[in-house]
Amino acid sequence: MNAPAPLRPMPFSDLKAQYAALRQSIHERMQRVLDHGQYIMGPEVKELEDRLAAYVGTRHCISVASGTEALLIAMMGSGIGRGDEVITSPFTFAATAEMIVLLGATPVFVDVEADTCNIDASRIEAAVTPRTRAILPVSLYGQVADMAAINAVAARHGLVVIEDAAQSFGASYQGRRSCGLSTWGATSFFPSKPLGCYGDGGALFTDDDALAQAAREIRVHGQSARYSHTRIGVGGRMDTLQCAVLLAKLERFDWELQRRHALGARYAQGLAGLPGLRTLAVRADRDCVWGQYTVFVPRRSAVQAALQAQGIPTAVHYPRPLHRQPAYAAWAARAHCPVSEQVAEQVLSLPMSADLDPADQDRVLAALAGALAD
Ligand SMILES: Cc1ncc(COP(=O)(O)O)c(C=O)c1O
Repeated sequence: MNAPAPLRPMPFSDLKAQYAALRQSIHERMQRVLDHGQYIMGPEVKELEDRLAAYVGTRHCISVASGTEALLIAMMGSGIGRGDEVITSPFTFAATAEMIVLLGATPVFVDVEADTCNIDASRIEAAVTPRTRAILPVSLYGQVADMAAINAVAARHGLVVIEDAAQSFGASYQGRRSCGLSTWGATSFFPSKPLGCYGDGGALFTDDDALAQAAREIRVHGQSARYSHTRIGVGGRMDTLQCAVLLAKLERFDWELQRRHALGARYAQGLAGLPGLRTLAVRADRDCVWGQYTVFVPRRSAVQAALQAQGIPTAVHYPRPLHRQPAYAAWAARAHCPVSEQVAEQVLSLPMSADLDPADQDRVLAALAGALAD
């Protein structure tokens, strides 16, 4: 009897297929940079910023070195520092709260909604104190949090709102784009993000001319002119080659978003009715670009192992909320976040990218059905 054919491993995020489709444009764009040699702040930087500002619908886009740097620069630009409190979600990647702490401010964790994993806007106002300076919601998995409610709380208390849109570039909320919904939008171009470069990169978005100017200065060591340091800044630029890569990737971005939406709908349909599995709720006034396609499962380790045995990679975003991480223990006492703790035990991210092959997606669905029936 013949041995069964080995199962073909599938990528979690298929960047190779994307590269194959865009190869020529990416090479041409990168070659142009190599020819002109302006590796830092070359013409592609402004070209990208203009294109992204127009796409999001803000007056300004400031490219920066990473999503982490975008959060840092936004808070520095708003003058957030020692003694200030920033309200945020504990159910996120560490960078969100890390930059608050790095500036000497206090992260105040507010629990998330059980069905979207985004910050529960109805709980924010109770966490506001005279020290609160900002609200930093995260648009987790590619779906914007309840920004209208968050902006309303911020307006009542004179707070800055910074959207951590690292996972949601391209998402829509009440007919407007993620990143253009509050004082600041901060995104990441980490390779596997909805819009990703070939290294680290990020961007800030704002309609406020003075804040945009502050961010432009902070990203180059607080210089208002060469060697004129008018404020404290960081080395936070995005390099020209990465901007060139993104300009090439923008050619196909609308198509990629359509694919992500179609694949997300296909997952939801195929997963409906699987015992014990719950899909993420997507609110009627917004969409999700599925920066991660994340579901809630029982017996997560066993499900993950069953999928792994069939060559299907999965990930957990995130296994422990930040207030339960040792580095954030100092801010845990004030954090009452049982929902975050519960969802952290259930979430499982499945393979997702614009180039996910529907045949591979069917393999994921079949493997999940098998694992949950066991
Ligand atoms: C929610 C969130 N915030 C911030 C970041 C930081 O972005 P970067 O890796 O570009 O610094 C990430 C990236 O993983 C993220 O997912």
